[in-house]
Amino acid sequence: MSAPTTINIGICGLGTVGQGVWKHISANRADLESRLGVKLNLARAAVRDLKKPRAVKIPASKLTADPMAVATDPSLHIVCELMGGTTLARKVTLAALRTGKIVVSANKALICEHGAEIFATAQKHGGHFFFEASVAGGIPIIKALREGLVANRFPRIYGILNGTCNYILTQMEDRDAPYAQVLADAKRLGYAEADESLDVDGWDTAHKASVLAWLAHGVWVKTDQMIVEGISRITPADFKNASVLGFGIKLLAVITRDVAKNELCVRVHPTLLPEGNVVANVSGVFNAVSVNGDVVGTTFYSGRGAGQDATASAVISDIADAAALLQFGKGAHLIKEVTTPVRETCRLAPPESIRCRYYLRLTVKDQPGVLARVASAMARHHVSIASVIQNPSEHVGAASLVLTTHESNERAMQATLRELTKLSSTLDTPVLLRIGDFND
Ligand code: NAP
Ligand code: HSE
Repeated sequence: MSAPTTINIGICGLGTVGQGVWKHISANRADLESRLGVKLNLARAAVRDLKKPRAVKIPASKLTADPMAVATDPSLHIVCELMGGTTLARKVTLAALRTGKIVVSANKALICEHGAEIFATAQKHGGHFFFEASVAGGIPIIKALREGLVANRFPRIYGILNGTCNYILTQMEDRDAPYAQVLADAKRLGYAEADESLDVDGWDTAHKASVLAWLAHGVWVKTDQMIVEGISRITPADFKNASVLGFGIKLLAVITRDVAKNELCVRVHPTLLPEGNVVANVSGVFNAVSVNGDVVGTTFYSGRGAGQDATASAVISDIADAAALLQFGKGAHLIKEVTTPVRETCRLAPPESIRCRYYLRLTVKDQPGVLARVASAMARHHVSIASVIQNPSEHVGAASLVLTTHESNERAMQATLRELTKLSSTLDTPVLLRIGDFND
Protein backbone atom coordinates (compact mmCIF):
# COMPACT_ATOMS: atom_id res chain seq x y z
CA MET A 1 0.00 0.00 0.00
CA SER A 2 1.39 3.43 -0.89
CA ALA A 3 1.84 6.03 1.83
CA PRO A 4 -1.18 8.33 2.24
CA THR A 5 -0.80 11.99 1.30
CA THR A 6 -3.79 12.87 3.47
CA ILE A 7 -4.05 11.43 6.97
CA ASN A 8 -7.65 10.98 8.12
CA ILE A 9 -8.11 11.46 11.86
CA GLY A 10 -11.08 10.46 14.00
CA ILE A 11 -11.50 11.77 17.54
CA CYS A 12 -13.59 9.98 20.16
CA GLY A 13 -14.36 12.61 22.82
CA LEU A 14 -14.56 16.36 22.29
CA GLY A 15 -14.29 17.56 25.88
CA THR A 16 -11.39 19.53 27.32
CA VAL A 17 -8.67 17.59 25.50
CA GLY A 18 -10.50 16.65 22.30
CA GLN A 19 -11.52 20.24 21.60
CA GLY A 20 -7.95 21.35 22.31
CA VAL A 21 -6.64 18.92 19.70
CA TRP A 22 -9.22 20.04 17.15
CA LYS A 23 -8.53 23.74 17.89
CA HIS A 24 -4.74 23.55 17.66
CA ILE A 25 -4.57 21.31 14.58
CA SER A 26 -6.95 23.76 12.88
CA ALA A 27 -4.96 26.82 14.01
CA ASN A 28 -1.46 25.46 13.25
CA ARG A 29 -2.38 23.37 10.25
CA ALA A 30 -0.06 25.09 7.75
CA ASP A 31 3.04 24.69 9.95
CA LEU A 32 2.15 21.14 10.95
CA GLU A 33 1.49 19.99 7.40
CA SER A 34 4.67 21.59 6.18
CA ARG A 35 6.69 19.89 8.93
CA LEU A 36 5.05 16.51 8.36
CA GLY A 37 4.73 16.61 4.58
CA VAL A 38 1.12 15.37 4.63
CA LYS A 39 -2.37 16.85 4.85
CA LEU A 40 -4.17 16.37 8.18
CA ASN A 41 -7.90 15.83 7.78
CA LEU A 42 -10.00 16.05 10.95
CA ALA A 43 -12.57 13.71 9.50
CA ARG A 44 -14.94 12.56 12.27
CA ALA A 45 -15.61 12.97 15.97
CA ALA A 46 -17.74 11.12 18.49
CA VAL A 47 -19.41 12.74 21.48
CA ARG A 48 -22.04 11.68 24.00
CA ASP A 49 -24.38 14.64 23.52
CA LEU A 50 -24.71 15.87 19.91
CA LYS A 51 -26.61 18.98 21.03
CA LYS A 52 -24.10 20.20 23.61
CA PRO A 53 -22.71 23.66 22.75
CA ARG A 54 -18.93 23.51 22.15
CA ALA A 55 -16.30 26.24 22.03
CA VAL A 56 -14.89 24.65 18.87
CA LYS A 57 -17.19 24.79 15.85
CA ILE A 58 -17.44 21.41 14.12
CA PRO A 59 -19.76 20.65 11.18
CA ALA A 60 -22.69 18.51 12.30
CA SER A 61 -21.96 16.12 9.42
CA LYS A 62 -18.67 15.14 11.10
CA LEU A 63 -20.25 14.35 14.48
CA THR A 64 -21.63 11.04 15.68
CA ALA A 65 -22.81 9.73 19.04
CA ASP A 66 -21.32 6.31 18.23
CA PRO A 67 -17.59 6.06 19.08
CA MET A 68 -17.47 2.49 17.72
CA ALA A 69 -18.39 3.84 14.28
CA VAL A 70 -15.27 6.03 14.46
CA ALA A 71 -13.12 3.17 15.78
CA THR A 72 -14.05 0.90 12.87
CA ASP A 73 -14.33 3.49 10.07
CA PRO A 74 -12.10 2.08 7.28
CA SER A 75 -11.32 5.55 5.91
CA LEU A 76 -9.55 6.65 9.13
CA HIS A 77 -5.81 6.16 9.70
CA ILE A 78 -5.64 7.49 13.27
CA VAL A 79 -8.21 7.30 16.08
CA CYS A 80 -7.72 9.48 19.17
CA GLU A 81 -9.42 8.07 22.27
CA LEU A 82 -10.10 11.15 24.41
CA MET A 83 -13.26 10.09 26.26
CA GLY A 84 -11.75 8.77 29.49
CA GLY A 85 -13.02 5.85 31.55
CA THR A 86 -11.95 2.27 31.04
CA THR A 87 -14.97 0.37 29.67
CA LEU A 88 -16.05 2.05 26.43
CA ALA A 89 -12.52 3.43 25.99
CA ARG A 90 -11.12 -0.13 26.06
CA LYS A 91 -13.72 -1.33 23.57
CA VAL A 92 -13.04 1.55 21.19
CA THR A 93 -9.25 1.22 21.51
CA LEU A 94 -9.22 -2.54 20.90
CA ALA A 95 -11.65 -2.25 17.95
CA ALA A 96 -9.49 0.41 16.27
CA LEU A 97 -6.29 -1.57 16.87
CA ARG A 98 -7.89 -4.74 15.43
CA THR A 99 -8.41 -2.88 12.16
CA GLY A 100 -4.70 -1.99 12.13
CA LYS A 101 -5.18 1.70 12.95
CA ILE A 102 -2.94 3.87 15.06
CA VAL A 103 -4.62 4.80 18.34
CA VAL A 104 -3.54 7.92 20.21
CA SER A 105 -4.63 8.08 23.85
CA ALA A 106 -4.39 10.37 26.87
CA ASN A 107 -6.03 7.74 29.07
CA LYS A 108 -3.64 6.67 31.83
CA ALA A 109 -6.32 4.73 33.75
CA LEU A 110 -6.94 2.61 30.65
CA ILE A 111 -3.23 1.94 30.14
CA CYS A 112 -2.65 1.05 33.78
CA GLU A 113 -5.59 -1.38 33.83
CA HIS A 114 -5.46 -2.80 30.31
CA GLY A 115 -2.01 -1.88 28.94
CA ALA A 116 -0.83 -5.47 28.48
CA GLU A 117 -3.94 -6.37 26.46
CA ILE A 118 -3.77 -3.17 24.40
CA PHE A 119 -0.12 -3.58 23.41
CA ALA A 120 -0.63 -7.28 22.62
CA THR A 121 -3.61 -6.40 20.40
CA ALA A 122 -1.64 -3.68 18.62
CA GLN A 123 1.20 -6.11 17.96
CA LYS A 124 -1.09 -8.90 16.77
CA HIS A 125 -3.01 -6.77 14.27
CA GLY A 126 -0.24 -4.45 13.08
CA GLY A 127 -1.80 -1.44 14.84
CA HIS A 128 0.02 1.00 17.07
CA PHE A 129 -0.79 2.67 20.38
CA PHE A 130 0.77 6.05 21.27
CA PHE A 131 0.23 7.65 24.67
CA GLU A 132 2.45 10.70 25.23
CA ALA A 133 -0.42 12.70 26.78
CA SER A 134 -1.17 10.04 29.38
CA VAL A 135 1.60 11.13 31.77
CA ALA A 136 2.57 14.66 32.87
CA GLY A 137 0.41 16.56 30.34
CA GLY A 138 2.57 18.66 28.03
CA ILE A 139 5.94 17.28 29.19
CA PRO A 140 7.32 14.78 26.63
CA ILE A 141 8.28 12.33 29.38
CA ILE A 142 7.28 9.17 27.45
CA LYS A 143 9.54 10.14 24.57
CA ALA A 144 12.32 11.08 26.99
CA LEU A 145 12.24 7.71 28.78
CA ARG A 146 11.67 5.58 25.72
CA GLU A 147 13.94 7.30 23.23
CA GLY A 148 16.22 9.95 24.74
CA LEU A 149 17.21 7.84 27.74
CA VAL A 150 17.14 4.40 26.10
CA ALA A 151 20.78 3.77 27.15
CA ASN A 152 19.85 3.83 30.84
CA ARG A 153 18.50 1.79 33.67
CA PHE A 154 16.59 3.85 36.20
CA PRO A 155 17.39 3.57 39.92
CA ARG A 156 14.95 6.37 40.74
CA ILE A 157 12.19 8.34 39.04
CA TYR A 158 10.08 10.65 41.13
CA GLY A 159 7.91 13.66 40.62
CA ILE A 160 4.65 15.52 40.58
CA LEU A 161 2.33 13.82 38.07
CA ASN A 162 -1.04 15.37 38.91
CA GLY A 163 -1.71 18.99 37.99
CA THR A 164 -4.93 19.22 39.98
CA CYS A 165 -3.28 18.18 43.25
CA ASN A 166 -0.27 20.43 42.73
CA TYR A 167 -2.62 23.31 41.98
CA ILE A 168 -4.63 22.61 45.14
CA LEU A 169 -1.56 22.18 47.38
CA THR A 170 0.05 25.36 46.01
CA GLN A 171 -3.10 27.42 46.54
CA MET A 172 -3.53 26.05 50.07
CA GLU A 173 0.09 26.84 50.92
CA ASP A 174 0.35 30.27 49.26
CA ARG A 175 -3.12 31.67 49.91
CA ASP A 176 -4.36 29.58 52.82
CA ALA A 177 -7.30 28.95 50.44
CA PRO A 178 -10.00 26.47 51.48
CA TYR A 179 -9.63 23.02 49.88
CA ALA A 180 -13.18 22.86 48.44
CA GLN A 181 -12.88 26.24 46.70
CA VAL A 182 -9.53 25.39 45.11
CA LEU A 183 -10.82 22.01 43.90
CA ALA A 184 -13.78 23.79 42.26
CA ASP A 185 -11.31 26.14 40.49
CA ALA A 186 -9.26 23.16 39.23
CA LYS A 187 -12.44 21.65 37.76
CA ARG A 188 -13.43 24.92 36.09
CA LEU A 189 -9.94 25.21 34.57
CA GLY A 190 -10.27 21.74 32.99
CA TYR A 191 -7.51 20.14 35.09
CA ALA A 192 -9.54 17.65 37.13
CA GLU A 193 -10.80 14.23 36.05
CA ALA A 194 -14.55 13.74 35.58
CA ASP A 195 -14.32 11.75 38.84
CA GLU A 196 -12.29 14.12 41.02
CA SER A 197 -11.45 11.37 43.51
CA LEU A 198 -9.06 10.00 40.86
CA ASP A 199 -7.03 13.19 41.38
CA VAL A 200 -7.27 13.97 45.09
CA ASP A 201 -7.07 10.38 46.35
CA GLY A 202 -3.88 9.70 44.37
CA TRP A 203 -5.27 7.20 41.82
CA ASP A 204 -4.50 9.31 38.76
CA THR A 205 -0.90 9.72 39.92
CA ALA A 206 -0.78 5.96 40.53
CA HIS A 207 -2.03 5.24 36.99
CA LYS A 208 0.71 7.50 35.60
CA ALA A 209 3.34 5.94 37.88
CA SER A 210 2.30 2.53 36.56
CA VAL A 211 2.88 3.70 32.97
CA LEU A 212 6.31 5.14 33.84
CA ALA A 213 7.31 2.01 35.80
CA TRP A 214 6.37 -0.15 32.83
CA LEU A 215 8.38 2.01 30.42
CA ALA A 216 11.39 2.13 32.73
CA HIS A 217 11.37 -1.43 34.09
CA GLY A 218 9.15 -3.52 31.80
CA VAL A 219 6.85 -4.53 34.66
CA TRP A 220 3.13 -3.76 35.02
CA VAL A 221 2.57 -2.62 38.59
CA LYS A 222 -1.12 -2.32 39.45
CA THR A 223 -2.46 0.26 41.88
CA ASP A 224 -3.27 -2.43 44.49
CA GLN A 225 0.45 -3.28 44.56
CA MET A 226 1.42 0.30 45.48
CA ILE A 227 1.10 2.56 48.50
CA VAL A 228 -1.47 5.10 47.23
CA GLU A 229 -2.37 8.03 49.46
CA GLY A 230 -4.00 11.31 48.40
CA ILE A 231 -4.02 14.88 49.66
CA SER A 232 -7.42 15.18 51.32
CA ARG A 233 -6.07 15.01 54.91
CA ILE A 234 -3.40 17.68 54.41
CA THR A 235 -4.28 20.88 56.30
CA PRO A 236 -2.81 24.41 56.32
CA ALA A 237 -1.23 23.40 59.68
CA ASP A 238 0.81 20.71 57.90
CA PHE A 239 2.27 23.34 55.55
CA LYS A 240 3.17 25.52 58.55
CA ASN A 241 4.77 22.59 60.41
CA ALA A 242 6.64 21.48 57.29
CA SER A 243 7.93 25.01 56.73
CA VAL A 244 9.22 25.22 60.33
CA LEU A 245 11.08 21.96 59.65
CA GLY A 246 12.46 23.28 56.31
CA PHE A 247 10.18 21.36 53.96
CA GLY A 248 7.44 21.86 51.37
CA ILE A 249 4.69 19.28 50.71
CA LYS A 250 4.06 17.70 47.28
CA LEU A 251 2.03 14.72 46.11
CA LEU A 252 4.71 12.53 44.56
CA ALA A 253 5.01 9.33 42.60
CA VAL A 254 8.23 7.59 43.59
CA ILE A 255 9.54 4.68 41.49
CA THR A 256 12.73 3.12 42.83
CA ARG A 257 14.68 0.13 41.62
CA ASP A 258 17.23 -1.56 43.87
CA VAL A 259 19.38 -3.38 41.33
CA ALA A 260 21.38 -5.33 43.94
CA LYS A 261 18.21 -6.76 45.53
CA ASN A 262 16.36 -6.78 42.20
CA GLU A 263 13.43 -5.00 43.87
CA LEU A 264 11.05 -2.42 42.40
CA CYS A 265 8.92 -0.07 44.47
CA VAL A 266 6.16 2.18 43.14
CA ARG A 267 4.41 4.47 45.62
CA VAL A 268 2.24 7.59 45.63
CA HIS A 269 1.88 9.82 48.67
CA PRO A 270 2.14 13.39 49.90
CA THR A 271 5.82 13.92 50.63
CA LEU A 272 7.84 16.45 52.60
CA LEU A 273 10.60 17.68 50.28
CA PRO A 274 13.50 19.89 51.41
CA GLU A 275 12.69 23.52 50.50
CA GLY A 276 15.75 23.68 48.19
CA ASN A 277 14.71 20.61 46.17
CA VAL A 278 13.89 21.56 42.59
CA VAL A 279 10.62 19.55 42.56
CA ALA A 280 9.54 21.24 45.82
CA ASN A 281 9.61 24.54 43.94
CA VAL A 282 7.30 23.52 41.10
CA SER A 283 3.95 25.24 41.64
CA GLY A 284 0.40 25.36 40.38
CA VAL A 285 -0.73 23.07 37.58
CA PHE A 286 2.89 22.34 36.66
CA ASN A 287 4.25 18.79 36.87
CA ALA A 288 7.89 17.88 37.38
CA VAL A 289 9.76 14.63 36.90
CA SER A 290 13.26 13.85 38.11
CA VAL A 291 14.73 10.85 36.30
CA ASN A 292 17.94 9.30 37.55
CA GLY A 293 19.56 7.08 34.93
CA ASP A 294 22.63 4.94 35.55
CA VAL A 295 24.33 6.32 32.44
CA VAL A 296 23.12 9.92 32.16
CA GLY A 297 22.81 10.82 35.86
CA THR A 298 19.81 12.93 36.85
CA THR A 299 17.68 14.76 34.30
CA PHE A 300 14.73 16.97 35.15
CA TYR A 301 11.55 17.82 33.25
CA SER A 302 8.88 20.40 34.05
CA GLY A 303 5.84 21.86 32.35
CA ARG A 304 2.08 22.12 32.54
CA GLY A 305 0.70 18.78 33.65
CA ALA A 306 -2.99 19.26 32.83
CA GLY A 307 -5.37 21.47 30.93
CA GLN A 308 -6.55 21.79 27.36
CA ASP A 309 -3.54 23.29 25.60
CA ALA A 310 -0.71 21.37 27.29
CA THR A 311 -2.48 18.05 26.80
CA ALA A 312 -3.39 18.84 23.20
CA SER A 313 0.29 19.56 22.54
CA ALA A 314 1.18 16.03 23.66
CA VAL A 315 -1.67 14.40 21.70
CA ILE A 316 -0.66 16.27 18.54
CA SER A 317 2.95 15.12 19.00
CA ASP A 318 1.65 11.54 18.85
CA ILE A 319 -0.45 12.37 15.78
CA ALA A 320 2.73 13.71 14.17
CA ASP A 321 4.64 10.52 15.04
CA ALA A 322 1.75 8.50 13.67
CA ALA A 323 1.80 10.52 10.45
CA ALA A 324 5.55 9.84 10.08
CA LEU A 325 4.98 6.15 10.71
CA LEU A 326 2.24 6.05 8.05
CA GLN A 327 4.52 7.77 5.56
CA PHE A 328 7.88 6.17 6.20
CA GLY A 329 7.07 2.87 7.91
CA LYS A 330 8.69 1.23 10.90
CA GLY A 331 12.23 2.47 10.21
CA ALA A 332 11.15 5.95 11.25
CA HIS A 333 10.04 4.74 14.65
CA LEU A 334 12.27 1.95 15.71
CA ILE A 335 11.95 2.60 19.42
CA LYS A 336 8.19 3.10 19.43
CA GLU A 337 7.83 -0.32 17.85
CA VAL A 338 9.21 -1.93 21.01
CA THR A 339 5.76 -2.41 22.46
CA THR A 340 6.88 -4.62 25.32
CA PRO A 341 10.09 -3.38 26.92
CA VAL A 342 12.43 -6.34 27.20
CA ARG A 343 14.05 -6.13 30.61
CA GLU A 344 14.84 -8.66 33.27
CA THR A 345 12.03 -9.24 35.75
CA CYS A 346 12.20 -7.81 39.23
CA ARG A 347 10.08 -8.39 42.32
CA LEU A 348 8.09 -5.79 44.22
CA ALA A 349 9.86 -4.47 47.31
CA PRO A 350 8.41 -5.76 50.60
CA PRO A 351 7.37 -3.10 53.19
CA GLU A 352 10.54 -3.53 55.26
CA SER A 353 12.61 -2.53 52.19
CA ILE A 354 10.77 0.78 51.85
CA ARG A 355 12.82 3.10 54.02
CA CYS A 356 12.55 6.83 54.74
CA ARG A 357 12.09 9.36 57.51
CA TYR A 358 8.52 10.14 58.55
CA TYR A 359 6.39 13.09 59.71
CA LEU A 360 3.56 12.23 62.08
CA ARG A 361 0.80 14.59 63.24
CA LEU A 362 -1.33 13.47 66.18
CA THR A 363 -4.24 15.16 67.89
CA VAL A 364 -3.99 14.05 71.51
CA LYS A 365 -5.40 14.80 74.96
CA ASP A 366 -3.30 17.57 76.52
CA GLN A 367 -2.56 15.63 79.71
CA PRO A 368 0.47 14.42 81.68
CA GLY A 369 1.99 11.19 80.36
CA VAL A 370 0.55 11.37 76.84
CA LEU A 371 3.85 12.20 75.16
CA ALA A 372 5.50 9.35 77.09
CA ARG A 373 2.84 6.89 75.86
CA VAL A 374 3.36 8.03 72.26
CA ALA A 375 7.14 7.68 72.62
CA SER A 376 6.76 4.20 74.16
CA ALA A 377 4.56 3.00 71.30
CA MET A 378 7.14 4.20 68.80
CA ALA A 379 10.00 2.63 70.74
CA ARG A 380 8.20 -0.74 70.78
CA HIS A 381 8.47 -0.76 66.98
CA HIS A 382 12.06 0.53 67.00
CA VAL A 383 11.01 3.86 65.49
CA SER A 384 13.38 6.55 66.70
CA ILE A 385 12.05 10.09 67.25
CA ALA A 386 14.11 12.90 65.68
CA SER A 387 12.04 15.96 66.69
CA VAL A 388 8.84 16.92 68.50
CA ILE A 389 6.73 20.06 68.11
CA GLN A 390 3.64 20.64 70.26
CA ASN A 391 1.09 23.15 68.99
CA PRO A 392 -2.27 24.17 70.46
CA SER A 393 -5.15 22.26 68.87
CA GLU A 394 -8.45 23.77 67.73
CA HIS A 395 -10.13 21.24 70.07
CA VAL A 396 -10.50 22.20 73.75
CA GLY A 397 -8.22 20.17 76.01
CA ALA A 398 -6.26 18.79 73.07
CA ALA A 399 -2.81 19.35 71.59
CA SER A 400 -1.36 18.80 68.15
CA LEU A 401 1.84 16.78 68.31
CA VAL A 402 4.13 16.79 65.31
CA LEU A 403 6.93 14.24 65.38
CA THR A 404 9.60 13.45 62.85
CA THR A 405 11.49 10.18 62.93
CA HIS A 406 14.93 9.01 62.00
CA GLU A 407 14.97 6.60 59.05
CA SER A 408 12.56 3.72 59.57
CA ASN A 409 10.60 1.40 57.28
CA GLU A 410 6.98 0.96 56.20
CA ARG A 411 6.36 -2.21 58.19
CA ALA A 412 7.51 -0.64 61.47
CA MET A 413 5.77 2.64 60.75
CA GLN A 414 2.42 1.11 59.87
CA ALA A 415 2.53 -1.04 63.02
CA THR A 416 3.32 2.10 65.04
CA LEU A 417 0.45 3.94 63.40
CA ARG A 418 -2.02 1.18 64.29
CA GLU A 419 -0.91 1.26 67.90
CA LEU A 420 -1.01 5.08 68.14
CA THR A 421 -4.50 5.13 66.62
CA LYS A 422 -5.74 2.78 69.38
CA LEU A 423 -4.36 4.84 72.31
CA SER A 424 -7.18 6.36 74.39
CA SER A 425 -5.27 9.66 74.38
CA THR A 426 -5.36 9.86 70.55
CA LEU A 427 -8.39 11.92 69.50
CA ASP A 428 -8.24 11.75 65.70
CA THR A 429 -6.80 9.49 62.98
CA PRO A 430 -3.06 10.32 62.84
CA VAL A 431 -1.63 11.91 59.69
CA LEU A 432 1.53 10.16 58.45
CA LEU A 433 3.63 11.76 55.73
CA ARG A 434 6.89 10.52 54.29
CA ILE A 435 9.99 12.67 54.01
CA GLY A 436 11.71 12.57 50.63
CA ASP A 437 15.43 12.97 51.22
CA PHE A 438 16.14 13.46 47.54
CA ASN A 439 19.15 15.58 46.67
CA ASP A 440 18.27 15.99 42.98
P1 NAP B 1 -14.00 15.48 29.27
O1 NAP B 1 -13.83 16.95 29.20
O2 NAP B 1 -14.91 14.91 30.30
O3 NAP B 1 -14.43 14.99 27.82
C1 NAP B 1 -14.86 13.69 27.57
C2 NAP B 1 -15.45 13.64 26.16
O4 NAP B 1 -15.81 12.31 25.86
C3 NAP B 1 -16.71 14.50 25.99
O5 NAP B 1 -16.69 15.16 24.75
C4 NAP B 1 -17.83 13.47 26.01
O6 NAP B 1 -18.95 13.82 25.22
C5 NAP B 1 -17.14 12.27 25.39
N1 NAP B 1 -17.79 11.03 25.83
C6 NAP B 1 -17.87 10.54 27.08
N2 NAP B 1 -18.56 9.40 27.09
C7 NAP B 1 -18.94 9.18 25.82
C8 NAP B 1 -19.75 8.18 25.18
N3 NAP B 1 -20.28 7.19 25.89
N4 NAP B 1 -19.93 8.27 23.86
C9 NAP B 1 -19.41 9.29 23.15
N5 NAP B 1 -18.65 10.27 23.68
C10 NAP B 1 -18.44 10.22 25.01
O7 NAP B 1 -12.58 14.76 29.52
P2 NAP B 1 -11.14 15.35 29.22
O8 NAP B 1 -10.68 16.17 30.39
O9 NAP B 1 -11.08 15.91 27.87
O10 NAP B 1 -10.27 13.99 29.32
C11 NAP B 1 -10.27 13.06 28.28
C12 NAP B 1 -9.17 12.03 28.53
O11 NAP B 1 -7.92 12.70 28.60
C13 NAP B 1 -9.29 11.28 29.85
O12 NAP B 1 -8.77 9.97 29.69
C14 NAP B 1 -8.37 12.07 30.79
O13 NAP B 1 -7.87 11.29 31.86
C15 NAP B 1 -7.27 12.43 29.83
N6 NAP B 1 -6.48 13.61 30.18
C16 NAP B 1 -7.09 14.75 30.53
C17 NAP B 1 -6.31 15.87 30.80
C18 NAP B 1 -6.93 17.19 31.20
O14 NAP B 1 -6.16 18.08 31.58
N7 NAP B 1 -8.23 17.35 31.13
C19 NAP B 1 -4.93 15.79 30.73
C20 NAP B 1 -4.33 14.57 30.35
C21 NAP B 1 -5.12 13.49 30.09
P3 NAP B 1 -19.88 15.09 25.58
O15 NAP B 1 -18.99 16.30 25.38
O16 NAP B 1 -21.00 15.05 24.63
O17 NAP B 1 -20.27 14.91 27.03
N1 HSE C 1 -6.52 15.28 36.12
C1 HSE C 1 -5.20 15.17 35.62
C2 HSE C 1 -4.30 16.10 36.39
C3 HSE C 1 -5.18 15.54 34.16
O1 HSE C 1 -4.81 16.98 37.10
O2 HSE C 1 -3.09 15.95 36.31
C4 HSE C 1 -3.83 15.33 33.52
O3 HSE C 1 -3.55 13.98 33.38
